[in-house]
Amino acid sequence: MNEADSELMAASFIKRGFKLTDDLKRADAVVVNTCTVRQRAEDKAISQIGRLRVWKKNHPEGKIFIAGCAAQKLGGKHLKNRFPFVDEVIGAKDIDKVDAMVELFFGTTQRGSAAAGQRGGYEPQESTAARQQDSAAVTTSASLSTDHLPPATVSNVSAYVTAMRGCSLKCTYCIVPEVRGPASYLPPEEILAEAAAKAAAGAREIILLGQTVNAYAYKTPAGVVSFADLLSRTSAVPGVSRVRFMSPHPLYFNADFFRVFRDNPKIARYVHLPVQSGSDRILKAMRRGYTRTEYLDIVAKIREAAPEAAVSTDFIVGYPGESEADFKETLSLVAASGISFAYCFKYSQRTDAEGLAPDLGEAEMEERLGRLLAEVKKNSSDILNKRIGRIEEVLLETEDSGRTSANFIVRLDRKTGLKPGSLIQAEITGVSKNTLKGRLTL
Ligand code: 5AD
Ligand code: SF4
Repeated sequence: MNEADSELMAASFIKRGFKLTDDLKRADAVVVNTCTVRQRAEDKAISQIGRLRVWKKNHPEGKIFIAGCAAQKLGGKHLKNRFPFVDEVIGAKDIDKVDAMVELFFGTTQRGSAAAGQRGGYEPQESTAARQQDSAAVTTSASLSTDHLPPATVSNVSAYVTAMRGCSLKCTYCIVPEVRGPASYLPPEEILAEAAAKAAAGAREIILLGQTVNAYAYKTPAGVVSFADLLSRTSAVPGVSRVRFMSPHPLYFNADFFRVFRDNPKIARYVHLPVQSGSDRILKAMRRGYTRTEYLDIVAKIREAAPEAAVSTDFIVGYPGESEADFKETLSLVAASGISFAYCFKYSQRTDAEGLAPDLGEAEMEERLGRLLAEVKKNSSDILNKRIGRIEEVLLETEDSGRTSANFIVRLDRKTGLKPGSLIQAEITGVSKNTLKGRLTL
């Protein structure tokens, strides 16, 4: 979500003639898009902002904007007091006001600079804006390096399109509903227009985004546009070869979804389905709204609809009260669900609610995290190996690499001579670390 927000902010700058840059020396404006989902992300954002003090001293005309979830949580007053050199703070709920803010600071005159973008989803990120005559790019706040960030103008193969904002669930550990507000759904015409614009700019894969994206339901006078409808309609946008979505919630799957998923080959055979824990006790304490068995049932339904589908997940280790037995349930869920990949996080306390202080020490958290990562790695490698010998459709991201519909990266044995965005068939010949090796077939 943050990455999509960064893109949106970047667009506000770009349309006024700005270009993106990773070179702070040449920037006219710096946007730090912050995350607060875990304490570490917030800490990174804070230290990133702190480092801009020197930049502002050397660029008194330059503007510094702090955006995103940590900005929402900490508040403009707090941030401006703590960092008086910051020009404006825009919380995550006010993303719609970014354009007006850029207008206020820079006006409509064509200048020549740019803004935001983010990879990795969960980390804070900084974008810098520079005048037209200067080079342009985007940087992550963690490293101030640019190498893995997307260009803000979407000409790459894969493009994010926000379908919903906020979240109306109340998982106990999560700060998202507080900083992003309740769920709201974008009108389907807006989503489809954005998908069409991005496809026209070269994107072949659209990733529909939302905290509980499969809860999508938009009321119109003619009836409700469901998530299944949205998937079908997005897949029919000219130029779109694949549609992904992130992240669905186990509570919102229905028969319509499984029907579209089964019948529409453009819907990627990949579902990132956060589970958080394999223990019923912990799932209940987290207020996730499903049991381990219900989660596994959904995974089974995904595979029933598309046997070749891959499922990945998010786990939190060390939730308050998580016993060794609970943790073992999480470990055993990895093989039981056959997930291809997982983001694993140590519990980070985000609210003051009682009973939510971590009760495991850092060493125990690390120990559980290590065991879980090892289990995920072992299973991922088995799953990758099972793909050997298959013929897979690969959406090229470079001349010699791309992704399968199930989201596995394939490195081809030679350059195809084809443009990124082309769909090719490849025989999977082997596995190398986390990726598949493939040979181009006709
Ligand atoms: N501590 C650790 N991980 C968290 N996540 C959300 N809140 C927390 C927290 N307080 C993780 C969840 C979620 C992902 C986006 O971040 O796994 O799916
Ligand atoms: Fe947070 Fe739960 Fe909503 Fe996900 S579903 S954003 S974890 S409250």
